[in-house]
Amino acid sequence: MALWSGRFSEDPSKEVSEFTESISFDKRLYKHDIAGSLAHVAALASIGIITSDEAEKISSGLREIESRIDSGNFEFTTRLEDIHMHVESALIELVGDIGAKLHTGRSRNDQVALDTRLYCRNAAEVVVAGLRKLQLALLSSAKKAGDAILPGLTHLKHAQPVLVAHHLLAYMEMFDRDISRLEDCVKRFNVMPLGSGALAGSSLPLDREKVAELLDFPAVSSNSMDSVASRDYLCELAACLAICVVNASRLAEDMTLWCSDEFGFAEFADAFCTGSSLMPQKKNPDVAELTRGKSARVIGDLTTLLTLCKGLPMAYNRDLQEDKEPIFDALDTTLKILSVLPSMLETMDINRVAMLGAASDPALMATDLAEELVRDGMPFRTAHHRVGALVGWCNANNTPLNKLTLQQARETIPEIAERHLGIFSPERSVKAKKTHGSTNPEEVRRQITEWERKLERIGATRSG
Ligand code: ARG
Repeated sequence: MALWSGRFSEDPSKEVSEFTESISFDKRLYKHDIAGSLAHVAALASIGIITSDEAEKISSGLREIESRIDSGNFEFTTRLEDIHMHVESALIELVGDIGAKLHTGRSRNDQVALDTRLYCRNAAEVVVAGLRKLQLALLSSAKKAGDAILPGLTHLKHAQPVLVAHHLLAYMEMFDRDISRLEDCVKRFNVMPLGSGALAGSSLPLDREKVAELLDFPAVSSNSMDSVASRDYLCELAACLAICVVNASRLAEDMTLWCSDEFGFAEFADAFCTGSSLMPQKKNPDVAELTRGKSARVIGDLTTLLTLCKGLPMAYNRDLQEDKEPIFDALDTTLKILSVLPSMLETMDINRVAMLGAASDPALMATDLAEELVRDGMPFRTAHHRVGALVGWCNANNTPLNKLTLQQARETIPEIAERHLGIFSPERSVKAKKTHGSTNPEEVRRQITEWERKLERIGATRSG
């Protein structure tokens, strides 16, 4: 018999139980469910609804159930819908009638709202720690790259030379924003919903503040209907995770390109690649590719959550049970990606010669030439146009920019001087950059030092 079966004359069929159960996936909330119940029981005792002796018996029963589940010594069955029912039934079995007092002043609607908040708060912390590890790996790769130069791309075409370290530090910024988004989103859902009941609150004088304090929530929720009905925090968390894995997938795409035979810029340790079952010569960057691929799941999870909430009437609706699998999957997938990406990056071996070779095409320095002409007083549009015409002449006459004679160059750009013809080196190009945040090696070194200080200040660790 179900715990809610008072007004029912028959049990649900096996098919209906299997259709409506959530235990197969919400059992992973057991620690949060029990932590919530322990706080609830303590608060019930503090207002005298149960005696301290009863509270002690219920609490030790709950702890016993937790250790049984921990050790795999607990039976889960679809005859009991969810984790809340499992814990409560086991408690009643264990401590007798006193156990039936646990659910006083509580509904599964506010209980599940509490459990998922506790779960997500913890999960966000774990993701942030994983992102910090990824940042440490990026930073160490950036330091190892030193002053290595590669062609920076726009539209996937050679644009201007940049430092490899500068390219990697771009991802430091992206993952730092992911962290700040996660930390910010936690602030909004870090409120304690218990005491909201099914939707209207409780006629018992529950001490919500005490529960909040015991579970380390800075505040209690303000509206009982919102507390049980809203899942915007899950959508927001999934959005933070989706953005984060999309950023990771861009890094993975760069790594995949760098490993390609066409680029030949980098290689990763064998442990992060796999071979082909047919072609003996292949070494494929599967970890990078699957990072790109798995990010699709998290985008799907976000879409599922948004679609789930769209058009739902107030307040709790059973549809909301479907919120768990997508948020669990989004978290699991993100954590899986973060468990391999940092160590893969640590093994990156860059081919400096190939990178520099690709960045040495003098056409990549065309912008530098235009900026030199601007320094001499030429309007930028004119300089851009003239250098473009010079590049056109070079292409038509099979002559690279750095092989032009002064006379040849002056036919297109009369203002050009001898010294302008000596600017076509990628090393000179990066050093010529002056702006804050540019690829100038001194600026990049300064940024590396700043990142080192920041990560040290917040105590980021590789093993964390
Ligand atoms: N299994 C449910 C869920 O995950 C718990 C809340 C059920 N509430 C109810 N009134 N049936 O949403």
